[in-house]
Amino acid sequence: MELPFAEPYKIKMVEPIRCSTREQRLHWIKEAGYNLFNLKSDQVYIDLLTDSGTGAMSDRQWSEIMLGDESYAGSSSYFKLKDAVTDIFGFEYFLPTHQGRGAENVLFSVLVKPGDLVPGNSHFDTTKGHIEFRQATAIDCTIDEAFDTTIEHPFKGNVDLDKLERILKINPKERIPFIIVTLTCNSSGGQPVSLENLRGVSALAKKYGIPLIYDSARFAENAYFIKVREKGQEQRTIREIVADMFSLADAMTMSSKKDGIVNIGGLIGMRSKELHQQASVYNIMFEGFITYGGQAGRDMGALARGLYEATEFEYLESRIRQVAHLGTKLTEYGIAVQKPYGGHAIFIDANKFLSHIPKEEFRAQTLAVELYIEGGVRGVEIGAIMADRDPVTRENRFPALELVRLAIPRRVYTFNHMDYIAASLANVFERKEGIRKGFTIEYEAPILRHFTVRLKRAE
Ligand code: F0G
Repeated sequence: MELPFAEPYKIKMVEPIRCSTREQRLHWIKEAGYNLFNLKSDQVYIDLLTDSGTGAMSDRQWSEIMLGDESYAGSSSYFKLKDAVTDIFGFEYFLPTHQGRGAENVLFSVLVKPGDLVPGNSHFDTTKGHIEFRQATAIDCTIDEAFDTTIEHPFKGNVDLDKLERILKINPKERIPFIIVTLTCNSSGGQPVSLENLRGVSALAKKYGIPLIYDSARFAENAYFIKVREKGQEQRTIREIVADMFSLADAMTMSSKKDGIVNIGGLIGMRSKELHQQASVYNIMFEGFITYGGQAGRDMGALARGLYEATEFEYLESRIRQVAHLGTKLTEYGIAVQKPYGGHAIFIDANKFLSHIPKEEFRAQTLAVELYIEGGVRGVEIGAIMADRDPVTRENRFPALELVRLAIPRRVYTFNHMDYIAASLANVFERKEGIRKGFTIEYEAPILRHFTVRLKRAE
């Protein structure tokens, strides 16, 4: 008999979670303005709001917490992390930050000015926010296949090289501070970018003399997909692939709350000494001194260790198989999800699930609320609410995809939890014709509105 797949770890500590009644959840979600971000965590049974900062650290990482050096300047924990960044990514210069958006804020303060254009692949919302906040424009050059959830393209995070070259060709070089490639692509479904595509982007960047930057939050999951899906890469180790990927980039930002498997932290890696000098000024202003950048020494030690654990094949295999298990169950139940299954999450196609609800009433948000009411499972809308308004016209933007993201925290939930989530969704799917109304907005912030929006049931 072929041995079944099982996790490459055992559980040393448990944290209780409690289920609630449907009546309680109906009450709580109304109180929360139908915004899942406004729920208290103990009102949630299985929390798939994000895979960011929600992972379980290993015993080795916890031991690094005890070894943390809390010196203000030059701590040994800083040097541990610096060595890991150079070893894994090949960047000589590095700055720690408190999380990913801190890294974006620091680096973009140096590089982005009003009127600039920043081409990339499905920029994440904070990345886009930091670009637009500086009166610059993010231009999405993701391949078209990414926007059809049914196409089985192995690298839906890929940049469309023709789209990219058109931007580079028709605009003066001075207006394009860098190209940013997101690994994996969160907003379009946790979809990876191939090594071949990264080489293509790098060639264009060189041809037009424009720096290439990676948003590296889920770089290890991206490398896993390169190993298992890209021809000629099967025999290579994850770390060899990572080294290859990053040898093409001039700099990186990273939210280490994902593939760093820590609860807080971020970093910037750079090749240029001059860029490091310029960014250090903003790092000190916004984040903290250049050898801690908003992180405790212990956090940097745990992160250094986490970067090595996240780039082990056995870990990645178990992680991505768990996500695929959930995806397979949902597919069996007839629910349309982004294919192929993403690295960190399953994305449900709410345009297909709730096609009878007008898009102006926020289909993905409506589905996320129904899933919470059904099973106490908290996912997140990646659709029109998150897409915000157009900064110029102030009209609502309706993206091609209306998705509910079920992000799976790393090393936290079991396969039984996956089955529970799938069953909850199957129940919503069965009663979907009975869901007659979506939502309208009662309150929204001028930028990144999805975090604090308050909604009411549509009339
Ligand atoms: N880039 C990507 C691709 C991300 O997914 C995130 C965060 C960031 C940058 C910003 O990093 O949160 O550490 O400041 N994504 C989280 C998520 C919030 O839920 O996907 P941060």
